[in-house]
Amino acid sequence: MYGMSMLVTHPKITIELIPFKKEFLPTLVAGFSSMRVHMHTNQTFAQVLENEQEWYDRTRKDGDIVSWAIRIPGAEMPIGVTALHDIKAIDGSCKSGIIIWDQAWWGKGVASAAHLGRTLFAADTLNRCLIRTSVRSDNAASRKALERVGYYVWGTEPMSGFRQGKYISTDHLLWLHPDRRDLFYARGVYPPQVIDTALYRAKTALDQARTVVAFP
Ligand SMILES: CC(C)(COP(=O)(O)OP(=O)(O)OC[C@H]1O[C@@H](n2cnc3c(N)ncnc32)[C@H](O)[C@@H]1OP(=O)(O)O)[C@@H](O)C(=O)NCCC(=O)NCCS
Repeated sequence: MYGMSMLVTHPKITIELIPFKKEFLPTLVAGFSSMRVHMHTNQTFAQVLENEQEWYDRTRKDGDIVSWAIRIPGAEMPIGVTALHDIKAIDGSCKSGIIIWDQAWWGKGVASAAHLGRTLFAADTLNRCLIRTSVRSDNAASRKALERVGYYVWGTEPMSGFRQGKYISTDHLLWLHPDRRDLFYARGVYPPQVIDTALYRAKTALDQARTVVAFP
């Protein structure tokens, strides 16, 4: 499934999260043929249009995924994609991911803005209380953007990928809904400092998102 349109007015940049269209696919294919873009993802081989047409149709019919194209207002073509997966998990969780394939837009706040919209949708529309994701340990920009909205690293998996002649590690992260604190610690386990910080950031991000995300 594709996500409803959102306009995110982040202090650094304004972006749109919009439902994917078939005509976006050639732009995605061009972006996804870059090893630089995929340096920190799981993808090792380039995709061609036919593969992405299949992905488009699979996603369109898959009730367990919600995916958005990321676009700069006024532009015709998107610059990236972000999604929530496993949105029907019975434990109230889901998984998240993002790829900005247009390198000209890296470092300008696009992921930070997209995470506000996506996290708000997960919390306020899908009623998800926990979001899981993973980031290559050397992908500082991705991890920072996630930590800013409340994700925290709970563990690191060594030698989980191979790039540029070296094994690389993967950080695994969790986002916990700040209003469900009692649910997570129902057995009286006092949360360590790292989780307190994450919950504080998650609350701050949700409060911010509720003011800067519009559903046109
Ligand atoms: C990684 C990626 C998602 C980051 O998106 P982005 O829009 O460039 O990130 P932002 O501009 O919102 O920056 C997020 C944070 O990282 C910091 N940052 C940006 N570029 C950075 C860099 N090269 N190194 C370290 N920190 C960086 C920003 O200052 C910001 O930190 P702050 O919140 O403390 O200000 C994007 O570059 C991308 O899609 N890359 C290719 C695919 C990929 O790696 N996907 C993620 C897989 S987990």
